[in-house]
Amino acid sequence: MFYNPAMELDRDVAVAVARASLPTGRARRGWDMLSATGIRGLRVLHEGGGFHPMVLSERDGQAIDVLRENAARYREEGAAVVRLDAQRPVSRGGFDYVDLDPFGSPVPFIESALAAVADDGLLAVTATDLPVLAGANRAACERRYGARPLRGRLGPEGGLRILLAYLAGATRRTGRRLVPRLAYVLGHHLRCYVTVTRHDAATPDPVGWIGDSTWEGPRLPPGPAVGPLWVGPLFDPDWVARLAPPSTAARPRELTHLLERWKAEATVPSVLFYEPNEIAGNLGLRSPPALAPLLQALEAAGYAAVRSHVRPSAFRTSAPRPVVESVARSVAVP
Ligand SMILES: C[S@@+](CC[C@H](N)C(=O)[O-])C[C@H]1O[C@@H](n2cnc3c(N)ncnc32)[C@H](O)[C@@H]1O
Repeated sequence: MFYNPAMELDRDVAVAVARASLPTGRARRGWDMLSATGIRGLRVLHEGGGFHPMVLSERDGQAIDVLRENAARYREEGAAVVRLDAQRPVSRGGFDYVDLDPFGSPVPFIESALAAVADDGLLAVTATDLPVLAGANRAACERRYGARPLRGRLGPEGGLRILLAYLAGATRRTGRRLVPRLAYVLGHHLRCYVTVTRHDAATPDPVGWIGDSTWEGPRLPPGPAVGPLWVGPLFDPDWVARLAPPSTAARPRELTHLLERWKAEATVPSVLFYEPNEIAGNLGLRSPPALAPLLQALEAAGYAAVRSHVRPSAFRTSAPRPVVESVARSVAVP
């Protein structure tokens, strides 16, 4: 039976998201496509509030029995269990919230998730095939996502941007477009929350390739251009600002820390990040500049600079690379 305690914090985030986006005046319809024991969908239903129904679906015979047992307590609140193959589009869509939480790649389920989500509904997508998206298996990434991945320390964020670009393309094929609200790397998986809308459907998606000859952001590993990547924001600052840790959070301290970091990070929508030790390596500095003085010096020079959730010493900045490097030189201990 699939139950992953390592996803506790991620499920806390899902509850925070549900609570921050409560509809007014009507119940919202939710679908937890791949429910397993139901832990995610039932938490979103019970702790998030405002759903009726929350459909929980599973294909596996053993899992469905456990799911039915777990959901029975929440039937009055709107839990409705269905045994189905989530790869097949459901006949009745119009869900305000669709949660796609697979083991591995979400690709086989994306078409039915998009068919199910209502206009202006929220789609939450997990990918646990992070090694593929982060470039450990380039051929698999090209095959699965039609994208050339970034490798190395930038790989996970590259993977997140490949996933968003893939989702954006699939959304376009439904005549709509997506707006990322929150997209992150957490441990060994990626997760994004996107609104699917017809609003401004003609607006082109910020999707493209990045290559070392034209690219002015953080240095890329040598090699050909990578992409297609989502090169727009990963966060909607106003939307992320509404997220608060629920009192029911299983990992309240970590959740509070994560939300604070995302809120700050949302203010600097730059693509990819720098790290002091990587800058020091590129510039041949004897030791890396300390992070806090480096961020302060970038701000003093008139640029935004914030830490990123992606890696412990990662930061994003609005400064172009030559400025980042010259400020880093001035801050580094000679
Ligand atoms: C990663 S688990 C879901 C975890 C769950 N959301 C949670 O929070 O614990 C993926 C589940 O999808 C189910 N599954 C896989 N393929 C499916 C399909 N085509 N239709 C419905 N369920 C499927 C598996 O049986 C498994 O229980």
